[in-house]
Amino acid sequence: MKNTALITGASSGIGFEIAKCLAIRGFDLVLTSRNSDKLEAAATSLSSHGEGKIDVIVADLHNPLAPQQIYDYCRNKGHKINLLVNNAGYAIAGSFDQTSMEDEEKFIRVLGIAVIALSKLFIKDMLETADGKIMMISSVASFAPPSTIQTLYGPIKTFVNRFSEGLNINYNHRGITSTAVCPGYTVTNFHTASGVQEEMDRVPSFMKKEASRVAKEAVEATLKGKKVCVPSKTFKLIVFLLKVLPHSLFHLFSKRLAPGRYDQK
Ligand SMILES: NC(=O)c1ccc[n+]([C@@H]2O[C@H](COP(=O)([O-])OP(=O)(O)OC[C@H]3O[C@@H](n4cnc5c(N)ncnc54)[C@H](OP(=O)(O)O)[C@@H]3O)[C@@H](O)[C@H]2O)c1
Repeated sequence: MKNTALITGASSGIGFEIAKCLAIRGFDLVLTSRNSDKLEAAATSLSSHGEGKIDVIVADLHNPLAPQQIYDYCRNKGHKINLLVNNAGYAIAGSFDQTSMEDEEKFIRVLGIAVIALSKLFIKDMLETADGKIMMISSVASFAPPSTIQTLYGPIKTFVNRFSEGLNINYNHRGITSTAVCPGYTVTNFHTASGVQEEMDRVPSFMKKEASRVAKEAVEATLKGKKVCVPSKTFKLIVFLLKVLPHSLFHLFSKRLAPGRYDQK
């Protein structure tokens, strides 16, 4: 059967690089994000990397109807998705007391509810053929102590890990695997879009990874059906330390490694 992947947030950064890795492996692709011009440009660029077909659908995941619209589009076009990549995301600029509830709801919709909704819609078809992989782009932040900026970002990524674990427990025996990919700092548009480019600029360069490298490890792990993937040796070590060290110790070195993120006010 032809492999077809749906990738959210495929217009730039990690999502675009994941699409490139999958194009090279011969997958047909359905790309989605909000920006039609960026999506078309991504599709044109990706067409030189593989023989597979590429389709795009513009959708804003802030919209509660978007997951169903994306699913219906795929059904109507005959795209049989056997790899779902839940990648789209951002963080809210501004501290928790300053952001509006509406902003927080929109944020949770993109990073949480849309992830659940798309997984719920596509897993039913995957179960029919006992053939399906889900990639969830989480973050090293899911293992870290709460940050003093972007209060809900870490917690929603922890949720993503737990959700992915739940899918594995319930569906591995029926041919479905879910991989929680947990990148550390990755050079993309994310930090500018999320209002923390200044903090990112102060992160030591050995801790900033290329999106292409993150994507390569993410795709390899997902196709092997691994449960968790932390791209790069640097962040594998950091996640190990986050799991074994008391978080109070983490604050001692976080001023150097993640300036501005864990400063006690
Ligand atoms: N960069 C990092 O350091 C880092 C580290 C760990 C985890 N991550 C995670 O990696 C994922 C990808 O981020 P990135 O670093 O590649 O950032 P990016 O370059 O800013 O890409 C984000 C993608 O999400 C899409 N998107 C944003 N809001 C959307 C919405 N409301 N509806 C639909 N699509 C939306 C964007 O497309 P449009 O703007 O065109 O809609 C874009 O394609 C995110 O889940 C992020 O949390 C990033």
